[in-house]
Formats: sequence, C-alpha cells, structure tokens
Amino acid sequence: MSLAVIPGSFDPFTYGHLDVVRRACTLFDTVIVGVAKNSAKSPLFSAHERVALIEETVSAMPQVRVDIVPGLLVEYCAKVQANAIVKGIRTSTDFDAEAPMAALNRRVGNIETVFIFGDPALSYVASSLVKDIARYHGDIQAFVPPHIARATYARLGGES
Ligand code: PNS
Repeated sequence: MSLAVIPGSFDPFTYGHLDVVRRACTLFDTVIVGVAKNSAKSPLFSAHERVALIEETVSAMPQVRVDIVPGLLVEYCAKVQANAIVKGIRTSTDFDAEAPMAALNRRVGNIETVFIFGDPALSYVASSLVKDIARYHGDIQAFVPPHIARATYARLGGES
C-alpha cells in the first residue's frame, strides 16, 4: 500500500489544493492531507478548524485522510510510514520555494518529494489571495468550496 502526505498550511483549503489531492489519489493508495500546526504565524483558522473544513471537503473521497502535522514533516512521515511527500507546483516561484525543502526533507528524513502540476486554470489560486478578496467583501466562491467560503467570510467579517 502506497501512502503520500500532502503537507501545507491550508489556511484555508482551496480548489487548487483539492485538485492536487485528486491527482495524488491517482498515484497513491492513501493520501493524508497534513495540516501544519505552526506553519503560519497568525493563521485565520486554528489547525483543528482547518482539519474540520478539509474533512468536510474530502468526505466523499475514501482514499483521503486529514491529520495535523504537529512538528517536523519528516518525523510525521516516518510515523505514518509515508512513501512520499506530495506538493503542488503552480509557478516557478513555487518551484524555487519547494526545491530546498525537498532537498532538506530527503537529507533529514530520507523521503522523496513528488511534485504535481495542478490544473493551469487554478494556478493563480492561493489561500492568501482568497483571504484578501474575502476581507474586502469580494466573491471567493470560485476558489473554495461553499462551506469554506462561509467560514472565511464569517471569520473575516465579510460577505459576497
Ligand atoms: O502551505 P505552505 O505554508 O506553503 O506549507 C509549508 C509547509 C507546511 C509544507 C512547511 O512549512 C512544512 O513542511 N512545515 C512543517 C515543519 C517542517 O518540517 N519544516 C521543515 C521543512 S524543510
């Protein structure tokens, strides 16, 4: 049984993330969406809230589990006996940020990182931009599932 961990802040989880999860499911038997507890300094949603929002999103995907990565990613991967880390790549900026992480995770944890190019139509979708749009009462329905849009507007005090 092959197992991949897709780590990230997911603050919040977007359709871009979902696209990468779907594609990872074609390569691995089990996919764990790993919510990094300490990745963002002041996240909009707590790690437990992010897990709940993602669980609702992937509830019809039996291959997918959602969990919190409490500390070092490589330690978590060793604990769950992951075969690989999966990351989505949108742009060359993503590549530049991801390359050293992949090298370090292999050096420290002896684990490979598999990069997946998502749907180009979603390449501009980023959690930070989604929050920015929601903060100023813009429409985020095209970027996140409805329950995440509701939660984001509620947390930021905005609405479409
Ligand atoms: O969605 P993000 O913020 O780009 O994800 C970054 C994340 C969470 C994947 C990265 O910060 C991470 O792996 N954090 C866990 C702690 C860790 O292992 N850091 C060393 C990475 S080389």
